[in-house]
Amino acid sequence: MNVREAIRARRTIRKYQQERIPLKVLEELVDGARLAPSATNRQPIEYLVVEDPALLEPVFGTLSWAGYIKPHGTPKEGEKPVAYIVFLVRREFDDVLAKYDIGAAAQNILLGALEYGIGGCIIGSVKRDELRKILQIPEEYVIDCVISLGYAAEKSVAEDERGSIKYYKDQDGVMHVPKRRLKDIMHINSINR
Ligand SMILES: Cc1cc2nc3c(=O)[nH]c(=O)nc-3n(C[C@H](O)[C@H](O)[C@H](O)COP(=O)(O)O)c2cc1C
Repeated sequence: MNVREAIRARRTIRKYQQERIPLKVLEELVDGARLAPSATNRQPIEYLVVEDPALLEPVFGTLSWAGYIKPHGTPKEGEKPVAYIVFLVRREFDDVLAKYDIGAAAQNILLGALEYGIGGCIIGSVKRDELRKILQIPEEYVIDCVISLGYAAEKSVAEDERGSIKYYKDQDGVMHVPKRRLKDIMHINSINR
């Protein structure tokens, strides 16, 4: 899969096979995040990998899934993530520039995961106080987001947006993700409406 294909193939995946991801692979994904662009090259993000089976269920309980299609979008028993990567930012670096870094690093993880058939979901809707307690995260870190991971067990396709940006599932369980059309978002030399 070349870069172009990977960018087009990547979709958020929220249902997973229950096979564990080797630590080596998780390490490679974080290594990809480490190499992402960083404003002034500050590199403010640290990554807490969670793959201990005893921690998976407590972490799951702090996350909120697929707001447009609740509750069907929430992974059920046998579909839940087998690993998480928690994005942590040292409090002194927690500013708008860190957010750009987080986006770039998260995308590197999601694209890197495709190589292994691993799907993921960036989760911003997190009960942070609860998660901090569960994982005993020191106060010097701000919890930004969590990426859930696992070998993909659902299909998701992008399609042109036609009046709604809400993703939905069809009768076969395939997720459809409306994306704004190129002609609606790309301007060449001037903005003409
Ligand atoms: C910053 C950010 C926060 C997100 N938070 C959540 C979340 O809390 N729960 C969830 O299920 N998906 C979350 N998502 C995933 C989006 O819903 C998903 O990226 C979007 O629907 C587009 O689908 P696609 O990734 O397949 O293109 C988040 C994505 C981003 C970039």
